[in-house]
Amino acid sequence: METYIKVLAVRGAPAIGLAGGYGMFIAARNANTLHQAYKDLEIAADRLGNARPTAVNLKWAITRQQAVIKEVRTKLVNEYDSEQGLQTLRNALLTQADNMLKEDMDLCRQIGEAGLSLLQEGFTVLTHCNAGGIATSGYGTALAPIYVAHEKGMHVCVYADETRPLLQGMRLTAWELATNGIDVTVICDSAAPFLMKQKMIDLIIVGADRIALNGDTANKIGTYGLAVAAKAHGIPFYVAAPYSTFDPKIADGSEIPIEERGAEEVTNFLDKRFAPQKAMVYNPAFDVTPGELISGIITEVGILRPLYSQSIKSFIANHS
Ligand code: MRU
Repeated sequence: METYIKVLAVRGAPAIGLAGGYGMFIAARNANTLHQAYKDLEIAADRLGNARPTAVNLKWAITRQQAVIKEVRTKLVNEYDSEQGLQTLRNALLTQADNMLKEDMDLCRQIGEAGLSLLQEGFTVLTHCNAGGIATSGYGTALAPIYVAHEKGMHVCVYADETRPLLQGMRLTAWELATNGIDVTVICDSAAPFLMKQKMIDLIIVGADRIALNGDTANKIGTYGLAVAAKAHGIPFYVAAPYSTFDPKIADGSEIPIEERGAEEVTNFLDKRFAPQKAMVYNPAFDVTPGELISGIITEVGILRPLYSQSIKSFIANHS
């Protein structure tokens, strides 16, 4: 599972969290004894938890599974190595992974309902990367309000940034929206500010990989530039995310680890290198948008507004 997460076979913050949760179950399923399972789970937690550093959902899910292990361990304190004990541990991990999957599905739906108030008939929405069904177990986050609007018969058009270097917008967002009968137009990332200037965009909604206590938000590289352009053109810029994407341990975005990925993602197309061999490459996979540039954060309980240091604090307090 660690490899699938690293190579982006599973990607998107909520989806990698869920994969991490199931990865923990798989580690227990592959162990032959309870004793071995405890040891393997420690290794799995470390490896899965660090497979991708930016999205906090991964650590969130692993932490949930670690709480399950602790609970089972306390219950089985006298069973050092029984077959039944191992099965109890496996069942508990699988149940928790299934619960997180179901919970994520509900959260997506609730985010969709909460974000619906931002949309109007005929609106054009710009989005970046893929924060849709493919990135979650349900409707997605940024795309959820669009799906809910579509369900209710509202006509909304989406501009999908292609999202260099790995084209999640062109490959995934455009695919899932088109498949679901929603008008979608792919644009180059660099075209987005021009569209804003031409008054072709009513609203921007993006997903998130980690949100700090002050609202600073990590998301796919290019998000920050969109937010700056949105501010310049007076276009509302929203982030959509469930509580599992908030990181109560960090005060601001400077503490968010930014994943750097391989040079070939930037230099190559279809396995052929186009950049000169001597050119160096810098490939940060995410950037951080300051909370000041974010009009609101669409969550499962409604839209959080600035001051985020207050609204996020009470949102998180209601979840603990
Ligand atoms: O590198 P990726 O494809 O995992 O990046 C995904 C994003 O940046 C998404 O916008 C984010 O994870 C939110 S998914 C609901």
